[in-house]
Amino acid sequence: MKLFIDTANVSEITEAASWGILDGVTTNPSLVAKEGRSYRNLVAEICQIVPGPVSAEVIATDADGMEREGRELATIAENVVIKLPITRDGIKVCARFAEEGIPTNLTLCFSPAQALLVAKAGATYVSPFVGRLDDIGQDGMQLIREIVQIYDAYEFPTQVLVASVRHPQHVVESTLAGADVATVPFKILEQLFHHPLTDIGLQRFLADYRAAKDVH
Ligand code: E4P
Repeated sequence: MKLFIDTANVSEITEAASWGILDGVTTNPSLVAKEGRSYRNLVAEICQIVPGPVSAEVIATDADGMEREGRELATIAENVVIKLPITRDGIKVCARFAEEGIPTNLTLCFSPAQALLVAKAGATYVSPFVGRLDDIGQDGMQLIREIVQIYDAYEFPTQVLVASVRHPQHVVESTLAGADVATVPFKILEQLFHHPLTDIGLQRFLADYRAAKDVH
């Protein structure tokens, strides 16, 4: 399973890229707004740091506006993926872009029915939001399992990109469900490294080694 980072913060992206485990980046308008920078420049800088797919979302909500913005974003770098909302207009633009080979990420997916339309429209990625479903008392990971089952049964090439990840267990469950990608906030990527027994074990190894060295 691929690991993307879910942020528009250049320092976080640079740090995560240095770990050698990062496959791509997802941004959204809320994340971009937090950075207070020109959208185009920010996306261009991120695309230079990470060679993998970088999702950049359109702001327009009508098909013509989304198409115009999407085409403009696609000129920033070869690894830009156009992020479109799952609306009638978003699906329409996705189908147009698919015919031209422009990669897309269809976002704000909350149901298997939406994921079916996304695959039919030829999207590169579908982004189901697990955390936001959990937040309203539904089972976000169940949605992932259902989408993976549908896509496998019909051999849809659209990749399942687990979004709205809230904790390390979401990442683990994504792998078990057979998702293609999880996009993970920086803080949670950091948490993936940690286990208390690793820290205790390392301390013990070093203490034993130092003690033995003192003896020799
Ligand atoms: C996905 O691409 C979105 O940027 C993101 O995962 C949304 O997560 P949130 O529910 O934590 O805002």
